[in-house]
Amino acid sequence: EENEEKHLRFPPNFIFGAATAAYQIEGAWNVSGKGESTWDRWVHQHPDRIYNGDTGDVAANSYYQYKQDVAILKNLGFKWYRFSVSWPRILPTGFSNKINADGVQYYHNLIDELKANGIEPMLTLYHWDHPQVLEDMGGWLNDEMVDWFGDYARIVFREYGSKVTKFVTINEPTAICKNGYTLGIHAPGKRFPGFGEYLCIHNVLKSHAVAYRIYDSEFRSKYGGEVGVLVNPSAYMPMNFEFDAAAETAFQFNVGWTMHPIFSKEGDYPPVMKQLVANRSKVEGFTKSRLPVFNEYWINLMRNSTDFLAVNHYTSRLVVSGTMGPIPSHEHDQGVREIIDSFWKSSASDWLKVVPEGFRYILVQLARNYGNPPIYITENGVSDHGTLNDDDRIYYYREYLKQMLLAIHEDGVNVRGYFLWSLLDNFEWNAGYSERFGIVFVDYEDPNRQRILKKSAAWWQQVIAARKIHTT
Ligand code: NOJ
Repeated sequence: EENEEKHLRFPPNFIFGAATAAYQIEGAWNVSGKGESTWDRWVHQHPDRIYNGDTGDVAANSYYQYKQDVAILKNLGFKWYRFSVSWPRILPTGFSNKINADGVQYYHNLIDELKANGIEPMLTLYHWDHPQVLEDMGGWLNDEMVDWFGDYARIVFREYGSKVTKFVTINEPTAICKNGYTLGIHAPGKRFPGFGEYLCIHNVLKSHAVAYRIYDSEFRSKYGGEVGVLVNPSAYMPMNFEFDAAAETAFQFNVGWTMHPIFSKEGDYPPVMKQLVANRSKVEGFTKSRLPVFNEYWINLMRNSTDFLAVNHYTSRLVVSGTMGPIPSHEHDQGVREIIDSFWKSSASDWLKVVPEGFRYILVQLARNYGNPPIYITENGVSDHGTLNDDDRIYYYREYLKQMLLAIHEDGVNVRGYFLWSLLDNFEWNAGYSERFGIVFVDYEDPNRQRILKKSAAWWQQVIAARKIHTT
C-alpha cells in the first residue's frame, strides 16, 4: 500500500505544463505584417477538406487574448507553457531578409507575460505552418528547406534565447510528412505515397540537426538553454508473443525512422528499414531504394543532435504480421499490420483510442532503445465533442499519468516533465473545431471566444497543488 501511495506521487523536480500551437489558437492570420502560411492557403482553398469548412482565421483569438490564457495557466498552477512560433509571422517572405517587427514583438509580449506570472516558456520552432512561398518552391520535399529552416531558427534563438531555456525544433515529423505529403489530408495536401514521406522526413531530420548545431555553436555558451527533438510514437504492442518481431519492425519503422539517426551509436536510419525499403523498391521495379541515403557528413551532424527527447503520445496499436497500405508506401514497406482492439475505449477522434498501458510500454521502449535520455512529455490528452463535465477526459489523464508514474518509479524511465494537450479547445486541423482537446472550453459562437474552465481544469489544479494523483 505504501508503494502504491508512492507511485501516485510526482518526483520532486517534475514540471507541469500545458501546450498549444500557433495556427491552432492565434487567429490574426493576416494582420500586422504576417505572411501566408501553408495552413492559411489550405483552409482557404480547400474548405471541402476541412470539417465544416472551419479555418484558423480567428481560432481562439489568442493573438489578442494571450493575457487571458496566461492568467488561466497561472490560476491552475502550471509553471510551464509550450507554444509555437508562426514562421510567416516572423518572416513574411519566408526568408531572413525581412523580419517582421510586429510578429517578433508578439512573442516577446507573450513570453514576458508568462515570466511575469512565474511561468516558463517552452518554444516549438515549427508546428506545421511554414510560409506558403517556401511550399511553392517544394517545401519539405526540397532540400533547400534545410537552410531556410536554419536561418529561421537562428532568428528565433537570437530573439528569444535570453528568455527561453527550452526549445523543441519540429513538431511531429512523421505526422507532417504522412499527412501533408503522402495522404494529402493536411496542408500542403500533396499525395506522393512511397516517396513523399521519405523525402520529407529526410529534410526534416537534416533541418532539426542544423538548427541544433546553430544553437550549439552560436548560442549555447551565452544562454545555456536546451534544444530537443520531438517524436510522436504510438505504442506498437504485439497482438501476442508470435508477433514480437513484427512489433519490433513497426517500432523501427515508425519511431526508429527519426530516432535511430539521432540516438544510435552508428547513426542513420535503422538497418531493418534500409533493408526492407530497398527490397520492396526492387520488387516494385525501381532502380534504387525509395529511402534516401545520408552521407557521412549528415550522419555525423545528426548523431547526438539533441539535449532531451520530447514525446507526444496519445494512443496504441496492436501489431501482427501481414501488410497494409497502398503500394508503394511507407505503411506497406514495413510488412506489418496494425490493428485497433475493439475493446479499447473511444474518443471523438477516430485514431485516438484510450490505452493507458501503452504509455508505459512506449516510454520503457524509448528508454531502452535510446540510452534512457531525459524525456519531456510535450503532448498527451484526449478529445470529446464538447462538454464542461468532461469526466472522460479526467479518466484519460488519471489513467495515463498513473502509467507514466509506473514507468518513472518502477522502470526508471527519466521523465522530467509533462505538458498536457491542450490548454484550450482549438483548431484540430482537418477536423476543424469538432474535436475538442482543451481543459478549457472555448465558445466558438462568441466573437470574444469566451474561455470557460472544464471540470478537468479543476482536477488538474488539484493534481499540481498536491503533486500527486488523487484516485477519487
Ligand atoms: C498532435 C499535434 O501536435 C497537435 O497539433 C494536435 O492537435 C494533437 N496531436 C491532437 O491531434
